[in-house]
Amino acid sequence: MSTALIILAAGKGTRMNSDLPKVLHPIAQAPMLEHAMAAGRALDPDRTVVVAGHEADLVRAAVAEIDEEAVVVLQEEQLGTGHAVLQARDALEGFRGDLVVLYGDTPFVTSETLERMVAARGRADLVILGFEAADPARYGRLVMQGDSLEKIIEYKDATEEERAITFCNSGLMAGDAEMMFRLLDQVKADNAAGEYYLTDLAELARAEGLAVTAVACPEEETLGINSRADLAAADAVFQARARADLLELGVTLMAPETVYLAFDTFIGRDTVIEPNVVFGPGVTVESGVLIKSFSHLEGCHVSRGSKVGPYARLRPGAELAEDTHIGNFVEIKNAEIGIGAKVNHLSYIGDATVGEATNIGAGTITCNYDGVMKHRTEIGSRAFIGSNTMLVAPVRVGNEAVTATGAVITKDVGDGDLAIARVEQTNKPGRAYKLMDMLRAKKARLSKG
Ligand code: UD1
Ligand code: MG
Repeated sequence: MSTALIILAAGKGTRMNSDLPKVLHPIAQAPMLEHAMAAGRALDPDRTVVVAGHEADLVRAAVAEIDEEAVVVLQEEQLGTGHAVLQARDALEGFRGDLVVLYGDTPFVTSETLERMVAARGRADLVILGFEAADPARYGRLVMQGDSLEKIIEYKDATEEERAITFCNSGLMAGDAEMMFRLLDQVKADNAAGEYYLTDLAELARAEGLAVTAVACPEEETLGINSRADLAAADAVFQARARADLLELGVTLMAPETVYLAFDTFIGRDTVIEPNVVFGPGVTVESGVLIKSFSHLEGCHVSRGSKVGPYARLRPGAELAEDTHIGNFVEIKNAEIGIGAKVNHLSYIGDATVGEATNIGAGTITCNYDGVMKHRTEIGSRAFIGSNTMLVAPVRVGNEAVTATGAVITKDVGDGDLAIARVEQTNKPGRAYKLMDMLRAKKARLSKG
């Protein structure tokens, strides 16, 4: 069976009070739309159509980044969920199979739940995803008769009796594409909201004698986001899930609630994460790694046996090989650090290669930027970079080479060479006393007058 996803994302999100369209607000550093699309991807859809409205250009650009095959269609006026789904019809010209309608602002539906909806198509023509609401508030109510869904009644249009129902509509729906579009043509806006309701499909399908049913999922999965407070709560739900998954996989989180994860953080088993570590997007950490407190990682890879932090910053393109040590106040960007190499204190290594077992002394800086262009620094294996070395890129330091403390390296250093590049020291016997006497006398003169 072919599947097409339609993701509704045209709403303004007034209560976000933002210039950014609601669906692009991030949860765990990925737009909520990306979470919804990722859940849908488990159905292996043949087509994906996103219905955009407010700030559609921004939504289009974001969708292109997430899934280049997805099509974005414009709903110029937000006339209701039914009207929104109809906007996808042209983009799905010639498609035969099932439509699965998702909401871009309902990012937590699991792939497993979507699979259960698709499976339920075996016994019904139209499948609605419902949930038992702790507080049914203004959700649409599902009017059931046994396993059959008779109709969905919107809160605004419901009687007191119907409002007492606690089994609610998540908004997600699956059914045959041809049937859904045909019934959508019959939907009228003759309701309290004056909108074209997608939910009318249930009653219209029943009127044709088609089977309509509901599949239930935990309320947590249908969490919709309408405000910044909802967004923060959603992020907390994501974090709790992601931390629990890591613990399950055999990762130690010493204080789980202080570790902030991204949507795609991957951490191998027997790795230990100390309290207060932040993961940006694109981080993979292998097994048996120690990440100490207050480290910040994004777009990087850490191989097994390495130790990072405390207070380390790994930026995009940092590739740490096995058994490396990256210590406090060290920043690594776009650089490969070889097996067993150490950068333990107060350094910046950017646009660089550091060979195996090389030691980078405290305060070493790769001077990679000349104000216009970036340049690379290459350091060989088993080299020793003295403390406070400035490596003015482009520059190369060979295998087993040594740079003296305080060196400003502007020329390549050959394998096994020692580079000294600093002003030679001169000592003046007894001159310290004279200097101090002179300074004190000067201060006394100035304070008198
Ligand atoms: C909808 C359902 C309701 C359900 C609730 C769950 C209808 C008529 N009602 O109500 O039964 O309990 O969701 O949260 O479907 N959208 C568009 N274009 C539009 C209108 C909406 O793209 O013209 C999008 C929104 O951006 C949002 C989703 O559709 O992602 C739902 O719209 P919303 O206005 O929040 O519907 P509700 O009134 O909450
Ligand atoms: Mg809503």
